[in-house]
Amino acid sequence: MRNYVSASVLSADMLNLKSEISKITDAGVDMLHFDVMDGVFVPNITYGLPVLEQVRKATDITLDVHLMITDPIKYVRRFVQCGADIISFHIESKSNTLETVKAIKSAGAKAAIAIKPDTPIENVYEYLPYLDMVLVMTVEPGFGGQGFIYDTVKKISAVKNKIVSLGLHTDIQVDGGINDETAEIVKSAGANVLVSGSWLFKSENMQESVEKLRKAEE
Ligand code: DX5
Ligand code: ZN
Repeated sequence: MRNYVSASVLSADMLNLKSEISKITDAGVDMLHFDVMDGVFVPNITYGLPVLEQVRKATDITLDVHLMITDPIKYVRRFVQCGADIISFHIESKSNTLETVKAIKSAGAKAAIAIKPDTPIENVYEYLPYLDMVLVMTVEPGFGGQGFIYDTVKKISAVKNKIVSLGLHTDIQVDGGINDETAEIVKSAGANVLVSGSWLFKSENMQESVEKLRKAEE
């Protein structure tokens, strides 16, 4: 399976978002990861629809929107209208899970369920046949720059095994604390879509860093 790198906009210089987007896309990333936080589902607030709409005007790259909001079903159609290509929402949110997946798909985007570190991975299994991607959080959602939680690796392996046993080809995304070292661990466990924020933006040669993250297993 091919690996993909999704750069988290949260680590970009917000005052220079347009040039940051050019820098990221020039470095060869596959997607932009756009974290939406409402200050209720997570203890932080970021940005939302109007910013996404402007980002969409600035680039053709795949926009991978991660909703960390309380009632995502209310907003998914509008996020698709503003340019989202993939929408992840949390299984811990209060929206009905299957209805939200269907709402994302009927609005024309790919659907993913995101799961926090402490939620059992088995909770997503019944939805796998309907999903394009599963997002296994490798930090507590809310902030960039946190340390990778190693205990989440077994959840990646478990969901990978389940996907294979069902004969599916669902992508597995990981988000939080991804750098050149943790990337190797998550890829070995079965993840193939790697979100990186602080590590990627701090790296001296972004293109080389993207290639390192994306490199397939030998
Ligand atoms: C955290 C966000 C992440 C964050 C990742 O809640 O979902 O996407 O930007 O940032 P790093 O790579 O710095 O952990
Ligand atoms: Zn995220």
